[in-house]
Amino acid sequence: MIHDIATRLLHAFDPEKAHRLSIMGLKYGFGPRQLRQDDQVLATELAGLKLSNPLGLAAGYDKNGDVPDALLAMGFGFVELGAVTPRGQDGKPKPRIFRLPEDEAVINRMGFPNLGLENFARNLRARAQRGGIVGVNLGANLDSEDRVADYVTCLDALKDDAQFFTVNISSPNTPGLRDMQSKQTLVELISRVVEVRGKAPLFLKIAPDIADEEVADIIDVVTTYKMDGLIVSNTTLARPDTLRSELAEEMGGLSGPPVFERSTELVRAFRNAAGPDLNIIGVGGVRDADTAYAKIRAGANAIQLYTALVYEGPSLIGRIKTGLAERLYSDGFASVSEAVGAE
Ligand code: FNR
Repeated sequence: MIHDIATRLLHAFDPEKAHRLSIMGLKYGFGPRQLRQDDQVLATELAGLKLSNPLGLAAGYDKNGDVPDALLAMGFGFVELGAVTPRGQDGKPKPRIFRLPEDEAVINRMGFPNLGLENFARNLRARAQRGGIVGVNLGANLDSEDRVADYVTCLDALKDDAQFFTVNISSPNTPGLRDMQSKQTLVELISRVVEVRGKAPLFLKIAPDIADEEVADIIDVVTTYKMDGLIVSNTTLARPDTLRSELAEEMGGLSGPPVFERSTELVRAFRNAAGPDLNIIGVGGVRDADTAYAKIRAGANAIQLYTALVYEGPSLIGRIKTGLAERLYSDGFASVSEAVGAE
């Protein structure tokens, strides 16, 4: 509870400062620790990775890989760090994160601020013996002249130091990045990325704003080049009419409840088109056990969240896991994997 109160208190600061303070708190050991073992019904497998529960932290919170172990200790089944880019960069001018409290949503136009690959690699290597499922979100520098090379460089340098990698071409804040989702450029990118891959599973993260017609092309590229799966989805550029907050027109990617419906619909579309073998991580607007369970039933093997943590605090993690286990048992499922796509 004390950590939820701390989360509330952080809202007295602007979002970027609050974020920095929370990372610092975790770094110095003030984070909550989940002591209970996860219910066995939550144990599952994702692209061969064994998870004690299917709830992960989405990319964008721990951009430099400062606190993966504190985040795992909070009860996440896996955490995704980054985005990392080859060279350190400041990102977009501040302010660039906005809370939309009436919508429990966030708009961000960070533009991948991070300290760069070298610092990131050092942080990952320092925890190499610790265990736990830690993934890396790969990005490209804002001023890059060869974006494909940026992904290749980061993956090549880190491939033995994390348990999975995400090729993120769906952030809306690096101009032109999302154009890489079109088939021709995607083939150019993925064909080069897979050349340097190691043993760790490789995911592609997509935007919720792609057209339904693009689903088949994306599956085609992912399966042709033997990537392991998809992360569906990143933030949206759309602004649903239902938004009530003053800051709803700020530029950037919208996350939280307003992106839930579209991102879940896309999980369903990818699952229907790809069949049972493709690994899908469902992300976007997960905020309680019902929304987590809905993503799994729509076809997600695992789920991630970020924005809900800002509003609810870390006790949310335990609540989602408890509620998810209850729902699985009461629907007669012996495991998460039995419920994937069950709707
Ligand atoms: C993000 N997200 C994100 N995604 C990504 O692939 N790389 C990144 O660097 C970031 N950075 C980032 C920063 C901030 C401040 C936010 C709010 C989000 C997107 C995130 O991982 C997730 O896909 C979306 O936020 C949707 O999930 P939620 O937040 O609705 O649970």
